[in-house]
Amino acid sequence: MEATVGLLFLLIGVSYGVETFCDARQDGAQCLGSWGGTVFVKLMDQASGAPRMDWMKGATLILRWRNNEIVANTIMSRSEFIPNNGTFRINNLRNSDSGKYTLNLFDSEGKEKRTRNLQLFVEGQSPIRVGAISALVFYLILLLVCIIILCVRSKKQKCKENLNADLIYVDVRVVQQQGRKSVKQNMEEEVEYSQIKTAGRNDVMPKSKTTLK
Ligand SMILES: *[C@@H]1O[C@H](CO)[C@@H](O)[C@H](O)[C@H]1NC(C)=O
Repeated sequence: MEATVGLLFLLIGVSYGVETFCDARQDGAQCLGSWGGTVFVKLMDQASGAPRMDWMKGATLILRWRNNEIVANTIMSRSEFIPNNGTFRINNLRNSDSGKYTLNLFDSEGKEKRTRNLQLFVEGQSPIRVGAISALVFYLILLLVCIIILCVRSKKQKCKENLNADLIYVDVRVVQQQGRKSVKQNMEEEVEYSQIKTAGRNDVMPKSKTTLK
């Protein structure tokens, strides 16, 4: 029981704890995330050097940076932008996080300076589902093993009982057969004796008859 609970927590922990790093400073970067895990996306060396920046997922704004300040973060509940090292961290990754991201860097005049694209792939299934399925499979195997052990044990006991019963049965049969044999022998002897007697009579009778005739 404890082992199963431990295994379950281990599975969930492993699935949740997956952290991936991704360097998005070059255009066309491809990043991998794990379902329920965390991805660190390095957007730039440090945010203080960039006066204006927008990070978009498709047409949706994710992060807006203006004059050394975070103006907007639309997924604030499960993400954080770290200006010191220009890294955007997204926790609790979901399948909908997969997709194409675009970083638009502007100069101080507000004109678009550079654009960098990044493709994020979030892989894996719900860790809870994976954990639940694993636990279920584990329980089924445990149950099967228990049943097999119980069966083997009960069979052994039955075998012993059967063996004892058989021995008694054999004893009884031997005794009975011995008894029967003696009766049979007596009967056979009697039969033989009577046959001899009758045969003798029969043999004698016609002879005597012929001798009489
Ligand atoms: C950026 O800084 C944060 C907080 O200090 C740290 O957790 C993270 O690993 C750093 N990321 C990179 C890519 O250096």
